[in-house]
Amino acid sequence: MKKILVTGGLGYIGSHTVVELQNEGYEVVIIDNLSNTTIDVLDKITSITGIKPAFEEIDLKNKEAVKHFFKYYDVDGVIHFAASKAVGESVHEPLKYYENNITTLTYVLQEMVDNSVSNFIFSSSCTVYGQADELPITESAPTKPAESPYGATKKMGEIIIEDTSKATDLKAIALRYFNPIGAHETAKIGELPIGVPQNLIPYVVQTAAGIRECLSIFGDDYDTVDGTAVRDYIHVVDLAKAHIAALNRLLNGENKANCEYFNIGTGTGSSVLEVVNTFEKATGKKVNYKIVDRREGDITAAYANTDLANNELGWKAKLNLETALASAWKWQENQ
Ligand code: WQD
Repeated sequence: MKKILVTGGLGYIGSHTVVELQNEGYEVVIIDNLSNTTIDVLDKITSITGIKPAFEEIDLKNKEAVKHFFKYYDVDGVIHFAASKAVGESVHEPLKYYENNITTLTYVLQEMVDNSVSNFIFSSSCTVYGQADELPITESAPTKPAESPYGATKKMGEIIIEDTSKATDLKAIALRYFNPIGAHETAKIGELPIGVPQNLIPYVVQTAAGIRECLSIFGDDYDTVDGTAVRDYIHVVDLAKAHIAALNRLLNGENKANCEYFNIGTGTGSSVLEVVNTFEKATGKKVNYKIVDRREGDITAAYANTDLANNELGWKAKLNLETALASAWKWQENQ
């Protein structure tokens, strides 16, 4: 049985990916420092799959602990989620983001190289494209200067990984996520609500639940179908399955380059108002909202051209926006 390290494996996307890895018959070991999640997610994963993953509470900033991990565990691949991801926070605390997202990445890669672990999947983001010149966005679209230190760490991460794959036996795939939303159908795992939500869907869900009084829609004067900004919202379970497809590609030696990039989205763009309307239709819940000024740094529209992922990974998103929003609501009701 192949053993896979999942860093950040108790987080939102990480936990959903652990479930799909176990469903695929992989043995999983999780590293998490619990800075943005809780240990009971481990039990929730176990209750879904019936298999308790191995777990090590390690902060990847602790280089010795990372070195010791790779001496103790013999893994066949690494899926690397562990990172800070709040765009706004990164603007105020850039050094926290460069240490937590970049320094730790170099420690993981160094130990992989030193221990001949060659299969690496990286959690990247469509944020590397900024506002793309053409839509839908392909992997050959030029990357743009980052709008935030968070976005810069994704771009830098890709460069570090590509350079390492050229100089060593590392084989890597960077998955450029569009907008992950929703929760597992069991509602046992989902996006943990810590503090005031920065992302749209958690805020919509908490407004519908009466936790937030009113959703502020950041601008309705964009050049889009209804003036509100457009994004490609992908169900987190579809996103998790893309990681399995990417891992299988590397383990089966099917990669066509030592470092590959894939856009992981649905290929469909939805405006903020379309999301609100679809949520109300899917759940029967009303969402109070008001239109306010644009948010600094937001782009008008982004949605993926998914041909490469469909053709090369043999992966395609199967769950639609309504299903994803209904699962987000079920997760909220289960809180
Ligand atoms: C979506 C849309 C907002 C909140 C970010 C990261 C990206 C990725 C996904 C990690 C935008 C609007 C939002 C609200 C609103 N994260 N909005 N009111 O900014 O597209 O992408 O999350 O990989 O890297 O940058 O996601 O959910 O914040 O915003 O109107 O209260 O909803 O303006 O148009 P975003 P988001």
